[in-house]
Amino acid sequence: MRNESVAEIKVKVNIKMKNKKEIIKFFNKNASIWDLKEKPQTYKKIKKIISKIKLKSYENVCDVACGTGILYPYLSKIFKKYIGIDISYKMIKIAKEKFPDGKFITGDFDTYRFKKNNFNLVIIFNSFPHFENKPKTILKAKRLLKKDGKLIIAHSFKLDKINKIHKKTKHHIIEKHLITEKELKELFKKSGFENIKTIHKDYFYIEGTK
Ligand SMILES: C[S@@+](CC[C@H](N)C(=O)[O-])C[C@H]1O[C@@H](n2cnc3c(N)ncnc32)[C@H](O)[C@@H]1O
Repeated sequence: MRNESVAEIKVKVNIKMKNKKEIIKFFNKNASIWDLKEKPQTYKKIKKIISKIKLKSYENVCDVACGTGILYPYLSKIFKKYIGIDISYKMIKIAKEKFPDGKFITGDFDTYRFKKNNFNLVIIFNSFPHFENKPKTILKAKRLLKKDGKLIIAHSFKLDKINKIHKKTKHHIIEKHLITEKELKELFKKSGFENIKTIHKDYFYIEGTK
C-alpha cells in the first residue's frame, strides 16, 4: 500500500473535523425540541431493552451519546454510578437541567480520556449511525470495559428503518452512515467481543462481552 502524503492526511482530518463540527451544530440546533419528538412507544422499547441487561456487577455505566438523558431514569435505578457523554453541549445542558443528580459530560466519546477497564456497561442508544469510524468507537468502548463488562448498541427502530430514515434525510452528515446487523456482528467479533447476541424485533439490540 502506498504511503499517504501529508496533504492527503490533512484533507482526511479536516473532513472528519468538519463532520464532527456539523454533528455538534445539528444536535445543538435540535436540542430544545428533542424530547418533544419522542413517541410513547420509544419509552416502552427502552424498558424492554433495559430488561435485557444482565451483568455480573452493576457498579458503573457509560451512556454514550446520551443526548438529553433519555436513559438516565432507567440506568440510574440499576447502576450505582452513571456517566453520560454527548458531543453536543446543548443536549448536555438539557440533560443536566432535567437530572441535576446525574453526571453528564460534554465531549467526543472517540477521544475523551476515560479511565480504562472501568465500566460494567457501555451503552450506545439510538446514536451509533452518527459515529463515523465505527471500528474505532467499538474498540474504544472495549478498552473502557472491565473484564466481563458488556457493550450494548441498541435502537428503538429496526435497523432497516433507521437506514431508510438516514438515507432519506438531506442532511449530508447523516445520510452516509448506514449499518447492517451482519456488519455490526462482524465488528463486535473482530474487536474481540464474546457471547455476541442480537435481538431484532420492533427494536434492535446487540451485546458483546469483554
Ligand atoms: C439521535 S441522538 C440520540 C441521543 C439519545 N441517545 C437519545 O436517544 O435521545 C444522537 C446523539 O449522538 C451524539 N453524538 C454524535 N457523535 C458523538 C460523539 N462522537 N461523541 C458523543 N456524542 C455524539 C449527538 O450529539 C446526539 O445527541
